[in-house]
Amino acid sequence: MTPEKNKTQPEINTLRDKIAALDAELAENFKAQFSTAPFLSRKTVSFQGNKDKPAYGWYKYKEAFSAELVEYFLGSYKGRISGKVLDPFAGIGTTLFAASSQGIPADGIELLPIGQEIIRARLLSKRKLTTDDTGTIEHWITSLPWKSYSERLPFSTIRITENAYPPETVEAIERYRSALQQENENAQAILRLALLCILEDISYTRKDGQYLRWDARSGKRRPGTKAFNKGKILDFDTAITVKLKEILSDVRDAELPVTLFPVKQIAGDIRLFKGSCLEILPTLEKASYGAIVTSPPYCNRYDYTRTYALELAMLDLTQAEVLNLRQEMLSCTVENREKDLLKICPQWESFIEAANQQKLLQTICTYLEHEKASGTLNNSGIPRMVRGYFSEMACVIGECARVLKPNARLFMVNDNVRYAGVSISVDMILSDIAQALGFEVENILIVPGKKGNSSQQMGAYGRVPLRKCVYVWRKR
Ligand SMILES: C[S@@+](CC[C@H](N)C(=O)[O-])C[C@H]1O[C@@H](n2cnc3c(N)ncnc32)[C@H](O)[C@@H]1O
Repeated sequence: MTPEKNKTQPEINTLRDKIAALDAELAENFKAQFSTAPFLSRKTVSFQGNKDKPAYGWYKYKEAFSAELVEYFLGSYKGRISGKVLDPFAGIGTTLFAASSQGIPADGIELLPIGQEIIRARLLSKRKLTTDDTGTIEHWITSLPWKSYSERLPFSTIRITENAYPPETVEAIERYRSALQQENENAQAILRLALLCILEDISYTRKDGQYLRWDARSGKRRPGTKAFNKGKILDFDTAITVKLKEILSDVRDAELPVTLFPVKQIAGDIRLFKGSCLEILPTLEKASYGAIVTSPPYCNRYDYTRTYALELAMLDLTQAEVLNLRQEMLSCTVENREKDLLKICPQWESFIEAANQQKLLQTICTYLEHEKASGTLNNSGIPRMVRGYFSEMACVIGECARVLKPNARLFMVNDNVRYAGVSISVDMILSDIAQALGFEVENILIVPGKKGNSSQQMGAYGRVPLRKCVYVWRKR
């Protein structure tokens, strides 16, 4: 033990006791709101539930929740939702498409270009494809025109995507990108969508939470890690034709009810705002939404700009653009610098104050600073990340309260996290902040089956179950 640690140990123990007491106090306050929800499962609150669902399963976005979850909440509160639905962290648009299919118009905000692109292509596939367009896709499936195309259209590589594909795959991608430029805008969008959907399968990488994991065949290996084999790496021609067939079949199936039967329900309009919800929410009209269904990034150090680096490079983002994007994302990685929230919106003082006044959060932050000072935190950026996460979330919550109609609900999926041996009750801290900012906390629904911890945390502190919850808040 270092002398520094000796000096601060009693203080750290006192802080841990204080955190436990404040956590217990909040749990007592929210006793009536907590319940385990048997109708929720790990599958419904994750992408698993979408995997085999037409269109929702095209692009594997591990951070998505299922359409079933959105349908469940919108269905349960049906008579009580009037007007549009909003998702400020829209991802690939699960909330938007699920609301629209129930006839409810929906607005989404998304910052990550891959999410924006998937939503755009899905919208186009629903609204605009003609039989000529589907005929073009059919032709690409049967004739593989890129194979005889001599010109190549190179794509951007950013530092972490260097050598991500076998050389013959790079050549095939470049020919494909070049050849698709001959087609009309609609067909191009579908061909590009299919390409984005297969990048992981044809690469040496696997998406693995905080990072991209590299197969040993790439010649890349993170120091100190074991050699990794991801199994079969698909060849480009097979992967792309399988994906195009899947998309085409879903598009054609979706058309059937329209031509055979009268349409039961008119789909609600979908609108996507591209950018950060911290910038866009303040521009939305107050009291204009009937519900919010959302899942923000969790405070778990997952870096979307790394996990989705292959896709960002294929969308031609440069290294500098990716670095900028990383900073604009809601703070949930140790690399996020503090954002000047009052510069974004000078009216947010009271929102930030709500986070600053939250006693459990402030004690956790003090504890983490002490752990940092005593050298026991595995990354010194953790205290800043936790502080930033909750301040930014307080601003998002305050804005959500502003744009919701009175009595409208907000449904939020989120996970608790754990750092330096302390579980952070994200559910209760955010719910307490929400109460301070104009919400009544109706329910904190616990998803059955508790989540574990990272292997580092488990090694050092043993397994402590972490709650995964859906919060139901009503605008007062
Ligand atoms: C948990 S995912 C939501 C997934 C979504 N529910 C779905 O089903 O696709 C969180 C999303 O928030 C997005 N995000 C992060 N920071 C953001 C910001 N400042 N503004 C808007 N979106 C942001 C991420 O890119 C990610 O897509």
